[in-house]
Amino acid sequence: MCGIVGYLGPRDAAPILLAGLTRLEYRGYDSAGVAVQTESGLTLRKLAGRIGGLKIALGRDPVTGSCGIAHTRWATHGAPNERNAHPHVDCTGQIAVVHNGIIENADVLRTRLECCGHHFVTETDTETLAHLIEDADGPTLESRVIAALTHVEGTYGLAVIAAGEPDKIVVARRGSPVLLGVGEQEYFVASDASAVLEHTRSVVYLDDGDIAVLTRTGYHVIDREARVQTRPVNALDWDLEQIALGEYSHFMLKEICEQPRTLQETLRGRLLFADGTARLNGLNLTPEDCRTLGRIVIVACGTSWHAGLAGRHIIEALAGVPVQVEYASEFRYRQPVGMPGALTIAISQSGETADTLEALRAARAAGSKVIGVVNVVGSTIAREADGGIYLHAGPEIGVASTKAFTSQITALLLLGLYLARHRGLSLGDGRKMVEQLARLPDLAAEALQIEGEIKALAQSYVEERNALYLGRGINFPVALEGALKLKEISYIHAEGYPAAEMKHGPIALIDQDMPVIFLAPKDAVYPKVISNMQEVKARGGRIIAITSKGNGDLRGLVDHQLSVPPSPSLLSPVLTVIPLQLFAYHIAAMRGYDVDRPRNLAKSVTVE
Ligand code: G6P
Repeated sequence: MCGIVGYLGPRDAAPILLAGLTRLEYRGYDSAGVAVQTESGLTLRKLAGRIGGLKIALGRDPVTGSCGIAHTRWATHGAPNERNAHPHVDCTGQIAVVHNGIIENADVLRTRLECCGHHFVTETDTETLAHLIEDADGPTLESRVIAALTHVEGTYGLAVIAAGEPDKIVVARRGSPVLLGVGEQEYFVASDASAVLEHTRSVVYLDDGDIAVLTRTGYHVIDREARVQTRPVNALDWDLEQIALGEYSHFMLKEICEQPRTLQETLRGRLLFADGTARLNGLNLTPEDCRTLGRIVIVACGTSWHAGLAGRHIIEALAGVPVQVEYASEFRYRQPVGMPGALTIAISQSGETADTLEALRAARAAGSKVIGVVNVVGSTIAREADGGIYLHAGPEIGVASTKAFTSQITALLLLGLYLARHRGLSLGDGRKMVEQLARLPDLAAEALQIEGEIKALAQSYVEERNALYLGRGINFPVALEGALKLKEISYIHAEGYPAAEMKHGPIALIDQDMPVIFLAPKDAVYPKVISNMQEVKARGGRIIAITSKGNGDLRGLVDHQLSVPPSPSLLSPVLTVIPLQLFAYHIAAMRGYDVDRPRNLAKSVTVE
């Protein structure tokens, strides 16, 4: 969703705020703005559109001051125009607020404030915060922010500055991530660590309910009763190179190509060859927990949900535990049954997706133990879970998730193996699996070698309006993921379906204008998938088949055949998805779209 940056220190704030916003632009990109404490009070600059426009505006008409806040927006309330861009101010223009999240009772508050004479100029929910703070009593900005927040229902990560207290930023969190960056006599605020990485590696993650007060001499964290809270300073393990584009034209392509290395990172130190199992120190499950596990519930959204579907096959096949995979947004509003004795796994790249976080909380409240499969270290889901597995895939900047997906499946393979070894998988079979997993990064590198072929193929499909992705078994989730990649970034309508289900509806759509992409690696259902291809062929559909090397030549049946290295079936999604990621990428790039920032989407969905 939206991105927040704040700076207080000896340097000029505006360039630091703009650089931070640029790092966060992948989170939201319909408008942006800054508010800086200048000699003449608060100065605001806001613009609709990308950060680039704001940079030009500030270049022409600079704002000088060493304390400020900034925001890049993904609209929830109100159109994405300049007026609705953050920061928002009170009636006097003396208080400026940037906010992520949703103020659910904004309409009620607005009516009440308007009745008291407050004048609103935007359609946003955030503006109510500025007026509430203006209205609140208290000796300090933080006391007024606390008083204002007592009226607020909903979620927020926010930063506030006020002309009356020029060397201070007040930050508050409930439900939307905010962290503090601690530098040499300078302090930062950010919704995401990548915005502060070039200045400091020391960060303080705020918890829900925290209020942080930053001044020139330090920072402190308090609760709503102004009691001081101790929050540890964490060291970031990302480096700048990971968030730089380097030789690539887009982050998405960089992240696709990085997969051999990111898979290696997910596996690093976790393969125990002699014991035929995985080392998962953070899992926090006893051998007894693993043995007695009655059921697993996976909650996730988007690509992570697809990884969860593949995880169901993996865990059921290896460990024999029944697995249920739920859209987090649906699960959180159901009455979950039979949760005591179950293990809930929240899968999330960002660790901040609001629905996944709430599903985790609902599962815990219903009596389940909860673990996270998360990429971003220190994220809310990672901190709230009882244990978990970090992906260590490094920052994922492209809005369409790629490397996180393959690392999520790899982490679930490690988990499946670990559980299985406690539940009767033999040492020999465990060792075999460890050997297979160790080869995965090399196999991914081999799968990437056909990029040239895929790019040429993309050229022939660049004008399509629809596409159908079909797969069976563990490759059905890959069909869903391939379709999601295409629709997200190229805006071509695409659907993923279980190949045999095609006969129950989608087959009506098949003609020469409907490309059908089949996932057909060599596995137990391969002959069945071939039959499904024949059904498409008989109706004039054009077929692209993703097969494993050694599957034989399918010319005559399919129009294009792309082959990935052969692998055991449970590992195959990590490989078969790679051509689909590249296919979607090249089509979108050829169409001239902003691949890393597709329209209407956000990388991390921190509102419901
Ligand atoms: C958004 C992103 C997707 C992502 C989903 C879940 O929709 O655009 O790429 O898969 O959120 O995000 P998470 O961070 O929880 O994996």
